Amino acid sequence: MASRTIRIAPSILSADFARLGEEVRAIDAAGADLVHIDVMDGHFVPNLTIGPAVIKALRPHTKKPFDVHLMIAPADPYLAAFAEAGADILTVHPEAGPHLHRSLQTIRELGLMAGVALNPATPAVMVEHVLDLVDLILVMTVNPGFGGQSFIAAQCEKIAELREIIDATGREIALEVDGGITPETAPQAVAAGADVLVAGTASFRGGPGRYGANIAALRSAR
Ligand code: DX5
Ligand code: ZN
Repeated sequence: MASRTIRIAPSILSADFARLGEEVRAIDAAGADLVHIDVMDGHFVPNLTIGPAVIKALRPHTKKPFDVHLMIAPADPYLAAFAEAGADILTVHPEAGPHLHRSLQTIRELGLMAGVALNPATPAVMVEHVLDLVDLILVMTVNPGFGGQSFIAAQCEKIAELREIIDATGREIALEVDGGITPETAPQAVAAGADVLVAGTASFRGGPGRYGANIAALRSAR
């Protein structure tokens, strides 16, 4: 556990949307490992955010991987557009469509890494029979839709369960945690087995002068 490399994925949902390009450059310079982009449709989740056009506009601002979290239903008709826009990882929720296996196949065929996101009520077993198509598993520690919510600590049990499932595959599958991650809650997620920490509020609080310290605080949280 202690030796696992932890990657930090700031969620630009908490960035200044009027200056998104600058914000992405600043978070990159501050040490972000991935840029987490939350796509919401006002239907699968009760909020609307950004789509492929904005992602495409942000692509020249950083070389860091774009970790695109799709909170949209259906997702399948838009996967190619997100790939063309410059996504590196596309993560879908199993509840977004009737054929998770097909969605993951499509993402892989587009040449991207494929992720599955599990809502707080969604069990770990949802990924068990698609593991060969999965590069990342995202555990939601809030109900998706908004930044700034409180960490649901009970999800750590699911993170631990997934850590065992992943280790048994012998493959490199990232175990990402998303929602309410701060320097105070991150150690619980890391102890349970998470190795990618998404953080919106905790990355962007205080403005660009604080991004480096914010990311460092998350990274050293053990
Ligand atoms: C919530 C999103 C998260 C959100 C996290 O639906 O998936 O990525 O931006 O925000 P914080 O870190 O503020 O909880
Ligand atoms: Zn997210």
